[in-house]
Amino acid sequence: MAKQHIVVLTGAGISAESGLKTFRDNDGLWENYNVYEVATPEAYSKDRELVLRFYNQRRAQLTEVKPNAGHLALQKLEDKFKVSIITQNIDDLHERAGSSDIHHLHGELVKVQSTRNPNLVEHWGYHPVEIGDKAPDGSQWRPHVVWFGEPVPGISKAAKICQTADHLLVVGTSLAVYPAAGLVHEIAPGVNVTVVDPGEMEDSPIRGANHIRKSAASALPELIEKWLDRGMV
Ligand code: APR
Repeated sequence: MAKQHIVVLTGAGISAESGLKTFRDNDGLWENYNVYEVATPEAYSKDRELVLRFYNQRRAQLTEVKPNAGHLALQKLEDKFKVSIITQNIDDLHERAGSSDIHHLHGELVKVQSTRNPNLVEHWGYHPVEIGDKAPDGSQWRPHVVWFGEPVPGISKAAKICQTADHLLVVGTSLAVYPAAGLVHEIAPGVNVTVVDPGEMEDSPIRGANHIRKSAASALPELIEKWLDRGMV
């Protein structure tokens, strides 16, 4: 029998217990910055140095954190299921937990892209990007991150993945940002949704979901153990 396909949509909440801040829990500030001062093309045009420095700090921070029990449980899920992870996170904690099929909707901190050509992307690692670090096309390397107002190149592929889901697991996202939040409408009729998030999610586009109001690191190991024991969701 073919393995059941579980699609997991993750957001900042899954990395909270690793020590990375979420976006909407801190008065609209992200690590003490207003996101519009650091995460828009306008911000980058206005002050490249500030934006590069901000992401250099985020990249360096990755070396100080590690995957938590939530990321690790999702990797374990692959023992019996086909698992696709669609993440809005730019950290590399799903990779470091060992998950094998990961789609980053909003880019990756460990990669850079050419300022002129968003398709010119290279692995960079954890060291800082400085003014003068140039892509082969001669333009400045910038973070490989989708900023507010920029297109989300991975969204159609992610939608296709959701259409083949036998179950959708949503972890640690407020579903406030589109088009990512719209992915929950791509699942086939009758496919069940489980949400793991300690928040109320009153305005979330998910209705009728089984909502476990706990943190990812406390809820996922138990939930996933149950699914693995049963061999089905
Ligand atoms: N476990 C699970 N969920 C948690 C935890 C935790 N330990 N802590 C907080 N949460 C939940 C919050 O209740 C909230 O619903 O995680 C969610 C975080 O929501 P946001 O901060 O809005 O993050 P996210 O949904 O990932 O944001 C989406 O917005 O700023 C942009 O591009 C950025 O990818 C980001 C996108």
